[in-house]
Amino acid sequence: MCGIVAYVGHQDAYPILIEGLKRLEYRGYDSAGVALLNAQDELNVYKAKGKVSDLEASVVGKDISGHIGIAHTRWATHGEPNQTNAHPHLSNSGNMALIHNGIIENYMSLRKELEKRGFTFKSDTDTEVLINLIEDVQQSEHVDLFEAVRIALNHVVGAYAIAIVEKGHPDEIIAARKGSPMVIGIGQNEYFIASDATPIVGRTQKVVYIEDEQVVRIKLGEELFIRTIHDVEAIPYVQELEMNLDSIEKAGFEHFMMKEIYEQPRIVRDTMRGRLHPDTNSVSLGGIVNYEKQLLYADNIVFVACGTSWHASLVGSYLIEFLAKIRVKVEYASEFRYRHPVITPHDVVIAVSQSGETADTLAAIKLAKEYGAVVLGICNVIGSSISRATDAGIYTHAGPEIGVASTKAFTSQVTVMFMLALRLAELKGTLTPEYRAELIQELDSIPEKIQWTLDHSAHVKDIAAKYKDVRNMLYMGRLQNYPVALEGALKLKEISYIHAEGYPAAEMKHGPIALIDKDMPVVFIATNRNTYEKVLSNIQEVKSRNGKIIAVVSEKDVTARGMADHVIEIPDCISIFSPLLATIPLQIFAYHIAVMRGCNVDQPRNLAKSVTVE
Ligand code: AGP
Ligand code: GLU
Repeated sequence: MCGIVAYVGHQDAYPILIEGLKRLEYRGYDSAGVALLNAQDELNVYKAKGKVSDLEASVVGKDISGHIGIAHTRWATHGEPNQTNAHPHLSNSGNMALIHNGIIENYMSLRKELEKRGFTFKSDTDTEVLINLIEDVQQSEHVDLFEAVRIALNHVVGAYAIAIVEKGHPDEIIAARKGSPMVIGIGQNEYFIASDATPIVGRTQKVVYIEDEQVVRIKLGEELFIRTIHDVEAIPYVQELEMNLDSIEKAGFEHFMMKEIYEQPRIVRDTMRGRLHPDTNSVSLGGIVNYEKQLLYADNIVFVACGTSWHASLVGSYLIEFLAKIRVKVEYASEFRYRHPVITPHDVVIAVSQSGETADTLAAIKLAKEYGAVVLGICNVIGSSISRATDAGIYTHAGPEIGVASTKAFTSQVTVMFMLALRLAELKGTLTPEYRAELIQELDSIPEKIQWTLDHSAHVKDIAAKYKDVRNMLYMGRLQNYPVALEGALKLKEISYIHAEGYPAAEMKHGPIALIDKDMPVVFIATNRNTYEKVLSNIQEVKSRNGKIIAVVSEKDVTARGMADHVIEIPDCISIFSPLLATIPLQIFAYHIAVMRGCNVDQPRNLAKSVTVE
C-alpha cells in the first residue's frame, strides 16, 4: 500500500523521485507529493490529489532544486484522498518532512496528547501525528533526529515505513520500518530509498533490505547506520539486486496487465526451470528440500493467503490431496490470525503471496510460528518480508508484477502447486511411475498450450464487447476449476467494477440459480472430464431460464459448445491441468471489458498492489 521513495546524493533529486514514484504508482495512487531541501536550506513541499502526473503538472514553474528529497504516492487509510492529506507531512516547526506507508493505530490518543502540548494539525492523517510526535521528542529530549525517531517509535502501535528529511541536514535521511517494506539502494555517493526495488533498478545493484523495528541513518559519505528501536546495533546486509529494466516496462503493450498476461508461457517455463525434470520424470524443489519429511508426515498442510494467492492455494489443496494424499486446509490469512486455529508442531503452514508483504499473511506466519509449526513460503518477490519470515520456501519467479490485478503471479503460483504436489506424490509413492510420467510430461507441455490459448484468444474481445455493460456475472467451475471460477470473477470485479461471483457449479441449484434470467451471463468452465456431464446439466439449467452462456471448453469438445452462446477454446489436456489454461481467457475477457468501460486497468480504484495494512 502506497509507495515511498527518497534520494540523497550528487544528482538532482526531483527527476529521480518522480521517476521512482511512477514506477511505484501501482502501489497506491490517490494522491502524490514530494519534499525537497534546496541549497538555501528551504524545505519545499508539493502535493496533488490524483496521479503522479498531476503532481508533475502542479510543480511547473516552482523551485524543484535540491539533491535530497522524499516522495510518496498514497493509498489513503486515514482521511480522504485530497491535497492536504497527501504526504509528505511537515512538523509544526516546518523543520522536517515525513513520508509514511502504513497505519499508526494509536494515532488518536497520541494526537490528543500532542494537542495538549500545543501541537496543531492540518490533516486528518495518522502520519501528521507521527512527525509531530518525533518533533516533540526531539524538542523535549534534546536529541538528534535519529534518536528522536527511535524513541518516538517506541510509543507507536501499528505499521510503518517512513523517511524523514530535516532542515540543516542536506546530506541525511532518517528511515525506519515495521510491517511495511523498505529497501535502500547504495550507489556511488548516493542513496535511494524505496518501498520496493523497482525505483532502484537500473541505478544500482547493491541493496539493503531493512528489517522490522530498525531505524537507519542514511548519510552521504558514511555507511548505513542501523539500530533497532530498542537501541541494539544492527549490521546492514548488502545484497545484489536481481531485476532488470525490461521487466518493469510495458514492452509495447498498452497496459502492464496485458503484457503480464502475454508473459505467461515464459513465466510458467521460468517457474519450472531447474525444478521439473521431464527427462527423469521427477521434480526437485531446492528451497524446501530440508522440509520434505515434515511435509510428508504433516498432520495437515495449511495454506494461508489472501485474494488471488488464496485461489492458487485452493488449486494446490485439490492437487496435493488428489495426487499426494496429504490433508490440506486453505485459510484466509485474515481469518486465520484471529480465529484461534488448531495448529500444532505436526502441521506445516505454507504462506502464499505474490508481494511477500501482505500484512494479514505476515500475521498468520507469526501466529503459526508461535504454535510451533514449520512455516514455508511460496512467494514472488525475492527478499520480501514473507520470504524472510518463513523457514524456507519456493520462489515463483514470475518477475515484477505491476498490474494491480494479478495474472502471471497466479499462474506461476499454480505451477508451483503442481510441482509441489508431484514432488510429494513422488516421495510418498502415491502414483504409478507411468501416471507420474504422464503428468510430468503434460506439465512440461503447458507453456506451449498457454501460448496456443493466447494465439486463439482474439475473439474473446468480441465476446467482451457484447457483455461490457452487464451489471452482474456468474462464473462456474468444478474441482480444480472452481478456484478458476473464483479468480475469473475476481478479475472482472477488480478491474471493470462489474459485480461477479464464482461458484462450484453444482452449488448453483442451492441458491444462485434464483439470479438467472436473460440479463445474467454465466461463464462455465466445462473442461474436467469426470464432471463434464454434470456441468452440462448446469448449463442446461441456465439455458432453460434464458441465461446467457459463455463456455470455456477444450478444443475437442463436442457437446458443451453446441449449448453455449459463446465458446472459448483451450487445448486438450489432462483435466487437472486445465486451471493453467482456462484462467488465461478469463483474464483477457476481464481486461477487454475494463478497457471498453474506460477503467484504469493497471490501477483500479480503491485497490493497491500490496496490502500492507490490515
Ligand atoms: C489480485 O488480483 C489482488 N489484487 C489481490 O487479491 C491479491 O492477490 C491479494 O491482495 C494478495 O496479495 P499477495 O499475493 O501479494 O499476498
Ligand atoms: N496512513 C497513512 C495515510 O492515510 C499512510 C497511507 C499509505 O500507506 O499510503 O495517509
